[in-house]
Amino acid sequence: MSVMKKLVVGNWKMHGSRAFNAELIQGLLVADLATTAPNADVAVCPPCVFLADVADALQGSAIAVGTQDISAQTQGAYTGEVAGPMIREFGATYAIVGHSERRSYHAESDQLVADKAKAALSHGLVPIVCVGETLAEREANQTEAVVGRQLQAVIDTLGDDIARVVVAYEPVWAIGTGKTASPAQAQAVHASLRAQLAKATPKAADIPLLYGGSVKPDNAVELFSQPDINGGLIGGAALKAADFAAIARAA
Ligand code: 13P
Repeated sequence: MSVMKKLVVGNWKMHGSRAFNAELIQGLLVADLATTAPNADVAVCPPCVFLADVADALQGSAIAVGTQDISAQTQGAYTGEVAGPMIREFGATYAIVGHSERRSYHAESDQLVADKAKAALSHGLVPIVCVGETLAEREANQTEAVVGRQLQAVIDTLGDDIARVVVAYEPVWAIGTGKTASPAQAQAVHASLRAQLAKATPKAADIPLLYGGSVKPDNAVELFSQPDINGGLIGGAALKAADFAAIARAA
C-alpha cells in the first residue's frame, strides 16, 4: 500500500458566476486547508472562462487549479476548444479528461481521451483521466472490462508517461445521484485499475487513484481509508465550501 498524500479535486462542472466563485473561494481560504487538511493536496476545476479569476484568487494558497477538459490540439482552427498552453498560462496544474459527461454528451472516444491526456502532459499539466461504467454495464458484470478498456487506451498512447497521470474512477450511476459505490465496490475497481497499471509501469503504486460519485463529508472517511483509494473527485459537494473542506479534512 502506498503512503502518498491524498488528492482531493473539486469539479465545479457548469456551475458558478463571478460572485458565487468569490464567495466559495473565500470560504475555502477561511477553512485554511494547508493547516486543517495537511494530508490532502487540494485543487478546484472551475469552468474555463473563470480560470484566470480563480487562479488569481487562490494565488499563494495551498489550493491548485485545473480545467474540466482540454483540447487534444495545440492551436489552430478548432472553434470552441481551449488548448494546453492557454490553460498553462493561467497557472493551472491539472486537466480533467474523459469525464463521463464528456464521453456521453460529446461522444468522446477512448482514443480522444487518451490524446487529450497526452496533450495535457506535453503542456505541463497533470491529466486526471476519468473512467467508469454505466449501471447497465455494471449489471451485466462488465465493470472491469469497461474501465479496463478506457484505461488501456491511455496506457497504450502514453507509454512510460502513464506514470505521470492521475486516474479517477467514477461509476456513472453514482454521479450526482446520491448513490455512492460502497467502499468495498470502489476498492475492488481501484485494485483492478492498479493491477492493470502495474503491468504498464513499475511506478503504479505512486499513481493517485481517485474515487468520484456522490462523495460527501459523511462517506469520505470510509472511502479514503480503502487501500487503493488515494483521494476523490468531488462534484456537488465541491460547490459548498464547508462540505469540500470537510472532505479534504477526511483525508
Ligand atoms: P457528484 O459528486 O456530484 O456525484 O459528481 C461526481 C463527479 O462527476 C465529479 O467529477
